[in-house]
Amino acid sequence: MACKISVIGAGNVGASLAWCLIEKDFADIILLDIIEGLPQGKALDIYESSPITGFNSKITGTNDYQDTAGSDVVIITSGIGRKPGMTRDELLEINLKIVSGVTQKVAGCSPDCITIVVTNPVDTMTYLAFKVSGFTPSRVMGLSGVLDSARLSSFISAELKVLPEEVSSFVLGEHGRNMVVIPRLATVNGKPITELLPAEAINRLIERTINGGAEIVGLLKAGSAFYAPAAAAAHMVEAIILDKKEVLPCAAYLQGEYGIKDIVIGVPVKLGRNGIEEIVEFDLTLEEKEALQNSAEAVRKLVRSIDI
Ligand code: APR
Repeated sequence: MACKISVIGAGNVGASLAWCLIEKDFADIILLDIIEGLPQGKALDIYESSPITGFNSKITGTNDYQDTAGSDVVIITSGIGRKPGMTRDELLEINLKIVSGVTQKVAGCSPDCITIVVTNPVDTMTYLAFKVSGFTPSRVMGLSGVLDSARLSSFISAELKVLPEEVSSFVLGEHGRNMVVIPRLATVNGKPITELLPAEAINRLIERTINGGAEIVGLLKAGSAFYAPAAAAAHMVEAIILDKKEVLPCAAYLQGEYGIKDIVIGVPVKLGRNGIEEIVEFDLTLEEKEALQNSAEAVRKLVRSIDI
């Protein structure tokens, strides 16, 4: 039987993700949104590209959660971005309600699925989805480090004029201001950037990575980034569906790893058919570990403020 992936939210990220996934041709895709016609129209548009791109998988747009039943992987992209005049708290309150309601329906229709949360603030929303779903920690994760690392790697590749695929980065911590970028974990053909770039350049690239989302919001004026987020989420889905056991930085629920407990934060995890198959503990210096723990405390503060 073909694998089944459901994408909740057919907005910019959701539709781009459906497009990335269908091109991989390893699963049938369900695209769901509350707006009538939107997922149906986008799914049909994507389907009509099949004779050109050559995929055989099915894509269906729907407003009905029953169509998502029995999904192997569900990605939650539903939510709103910050609108002019809206406070961070108001945004949180709205996305909290959306993600909570969506998670309940997802867990009801696909009790065995692996869930990837994309909605921001993602560490908090992933914690919420974990609590609401009742799933084991291995089956709930958030998109953070894969995207942040891709941003850093792309900036390094431009700075050093090397191919993007020659660069590898591992960005940890919160997906936001408290991101933990450890320069020695970014390498070009195995060589740490600390041996290739002056400190000034490294700091500039790190700052740009931390501001990566905001830089795009500033340019777009309306809406936020979606191409790289969609590609990053698709990369996580591929590692799961193809059981690749690939180690990727993802937002995961910790139970003592890195000295952090009962919070979701970006750490390296091994992704396979069972979701998070291992939380990989890198050998961090005391200072690096402390930075990760501080980042986790920032997420905890947010989680407490909304009383999950
Ligand atoms: N159920 C299903 N879909 C919903 C629901 C809901 N309860 N509430 C909102 N949606 C849908 C909207 O109708 C919209 O089509 O979610 C979609 C969100 O799409 P966009 O507004 O285009 O937002 P997008 O850019 O895709 O970002 C979504 O991902 O990267 C994060 O910060 C970003 O939290 C945001 C999320």
